[in-house]
Amino acid sequence: MEKVTLKIFRYDPGKDSQPYYQNYIMELEPGITLLNGLNKVRATQDASLAYRMSCGSAICGSCAMKVNGHALLACKTQLCDLAKNGLVQIDPIGNMEVIKDLVVDLEPFWASLRKVRPYLVPDTLDNPELERKQTQKQFLLIDDVTTCILCASCYSDCNVLEVDNEFFGPATLAKAHRFIYDSRDAKAYDRLEQITELYGVWDCTHCGECSTRCPTETKPMARIEEIRQAVMEAEITNNNGARHVLGFRETVSKSGRLNENYLPARSVGFFNIPALLGLLPVGIRMFVKGKNPPLIHKSIEKVKEVKSIFSRLKKYRKIKPQHITKGDINRLDEDSISERKV
Ligand code: SF4
Ligand code: SF4
Ligand code: FES
Repeated sequence: MEKVTLKIFRYDPGKDSQPYYQNYIMELEPGITLLNGLNKVRATQDASLAYRMSCGSAICGSCAMKVNGHALLACKTQLCDLAKNGLVQIDPIGNMEVIKDLVVDLEPFWASLRKVRPYLVPDTLDNPELERKQTQKQFLLIDDVTTCILCASCYSDCNVLEVDNEFFGPATLAKAHRFIYDSRDAKAYDRLEQITELYGVWDCTHCGECSTRCPTETKPMARIEEIRQAVMEAEITNNNGARHVLGFRETVSKSGRLNENYLPARSVGFFNIPALLGLLPVGIRMFVKGKNPPLIHKSIEKVKEVKSIFSRLKKYRKIKPQHITKGDINRLDEDSISERKV
């Protein structure tokens, strides 16, 4: 039978001065999952190997690990799909400290989730026995996000978290979405306001890694886009991200192209002197390298066509009800995300 080598990250902080890799050679049995393979290694070769597992059925979210550089669920992945060259490298999931071997300290992940009140806040607690019903259509708005199994694969591979561990992260933003779009939750506006703060929804760079790694239908990046849409519909625009969106729209709708001199100042705010001064060094560096955009901003040749697209969009936006208003019991329009992005 064909053989496969599992090259596994090993580290016991109480014993080892440095992490190292250990190779385990085993038979590549047909139909075996990576988790089955690890169980076999532990049962027959090395009982000291540490990793998390529970359900074996892609439900509990505990067996996430990095395989050949990307996070996945060991119990959901066939070993033969990974072992193309006879070698599979296995590391702990990223952006968290290692406790032992493939076991990481998940506390930063839980701490981030706690920031967004990951539970329903109903409009009244007067009648706790009250059944809070939803229509099927209302439930479909949150259906995808309710499949999240909190495996932290997205957290592990998020590029922003790699450089800034204050960022809320994809799973947390998806969890916020789950309650923002829940017809029974009374705090949609407050949730949206919180999430537009620094390290929130505007800090995502849209790399798509979280959606690619997510083993469920949650697909966090698409949910982040929907939160941004809700933020703009609620007119929560006193923040850099929303001003950036508005500035983008203003310049492209007028000239057909981005005015890169206007956009940075529009994003931070024209009267935000410290932030404007903060932009100066970049501007000077661009000037010295000859990369500054032209001072006179010109329209593109077919600007009329761009304008007509924007006027059609405006008409489309006008027929959208603004369901989120400050202080109200907030409800998002069921139809506003009828075309779900994945
Ligand atoms: S799309 Fe955003 S949240 Fe997702 S991995 Fe990339 S930066 Fe992180
Ligand atoms: S969003 Fe997907 S990848 Fe992230 S924790 Fe939930 S199930 Fe895991
Ligand atoms: S063991 Fe539960 S998700 Fe893999």
